[in-house]
Amino acid sequence: MRKIKCTLSLIGVTIVFLNSTQTLGQSKEWGTEVIYSELQVPKFDLPDLLVTVEGNKVTSEEEWMNVRRPQIMALLATTIYGRVPTPEAPVKTRFEELEVDENFFDGRCTRKLVKATFSNERGSVAMNMAIFLPNNSEKPVPVLLRMGFSDVTGKNIEMKNIQEYGQLGNGTPLVDFLDKGFGVVCIKGGEIVKDEVSFKNSIHKLFYTGTQSLTKADEWGVIAGISYQFSRTMDYIETDAAIDNDRVAIVGFSKLGKSTLWAGAQDTRFAIVLSQNSGAAGAALWRRKFGENLEYITRFPRWLCGNANKYVGKENDLPIDQHMLLACIAPRPLYVVSGINDLWADNMGEYLSAYHATPVYNLFGLEGQSTAERPRINEPAANRALSYHVRSGAHGYQQFDWDQYIKFMDFHFNKNK
Ligand code: GCU
Repeated sequence: MRKIKCTLSLIGVTIVFLNSTQTLGQSKEWGTEVIYSELQVPKFDLPDLLVTVEGNKVTSEEEWMNVRRPQIMALLATTIYGRVPTPEAPVKTRFEELEVDENFFDGRCTRKLVKATFSNERGSVAMNMAIFLPNNSEKPVPVLLRMGFSDVTGKNIEMKNIQEYGQLGNGTPLVDFLDKGFGVVCIKGGEIVKDEVSFKNSIHKLFYTGTQSLTKADEWGVIAGISYQFSRTMDYIETDAAIDNDRVAIVGFSKLGKSTLWAGAQDTRFAIVLSQNSGAAGAALWRRKFGENLEYITRFPRWLCGNANKYVGKENDLPIDQHMLLACIAPRPLYVVSGINDLWADNMGEYLSAYHATPVYNLFGLEGQSTAERPRINEPAANRALSYHVRSGAHGYQQFDWDQYIKFMDFHFNKNK
């Protein structure tokens, strides 16, 4: 805690208010000390990305992919997100096409509604997908797989009114994607994962064994469950001949941004990963403790795995930090977006993570964020494998973000076409 002693000099008399203390840049959220000033950020050393657990220096793509990356992925699974256990009975998946409208948005695209049901002896859970594909394409199209907080039914997947031309009810600027020849797949984050401790209404229950009724300390939490939902959607996408499986980008915001990054790191079928204001357990570095910190996020009892609780107040003992998560997405393109007023998500920590992940992109001969100084507001450091921008405004999507994402997808998906 930073304390200020106030000293007042009055005509040769010095009065010192010994007990007058004030805290700079800190506040309490739910009884947790939260840092909102760079002056308060503790000094720290990050675990070395390019040194293996055995102490060997990693100098090639092969050593990264075959040795160091698997080590980091295992550590992220067992200390932060939790691993997906093996279910007692296999989980069966059924995809049902509920509706196809070939004349959606004045005939510019086809909208398909598909339901996926996952089941075994322990129960069943279902999720919906709304798929929008341009009508004029002769070849399979690249898509953005967007996970949002709203249902993908009713008004959310209808066009908004003429004054918001081309936008879906859930805020996706569909027209901008169609203009570039991209489709969009919308899903609701958490449709198969409720924010609960028992996971009795979530996909997790299908994976319980014996008399188990709670996840074990190293098993998946809410965020990892939502990441799993991304991968199951990709399973459907692979069955859809109108979509180019090699050109699928994923995006999610905030809590879903955390799941986007973990899904992107685990499932290499995702060709591009877009991280929107992902913050703690997303792109932001734990060791900075800025904004939402480990203590706070573990108050959502099961967002992370049980083991994460052990590191509250001992962030320096974590065998990983979040730059390592970003590095595990390499060499696939990754775009990290921050809002300058989004202090809760530690916008600077999100940038520094990208900066510290860059040596792995460099190993692949790719460009990332190579200066410790962050790019200026609203000036994207883009068109590189690991891109970044911080824009004006706070937590949320802005048209500026969508515009950069579309350029980024165009740049990477179409560069060899
Ligand atoms: C809270 C939480 C964040 C999260 C956000 C969300 O603010 O602390 O970690 O990103 O909710 O709604 O997703």
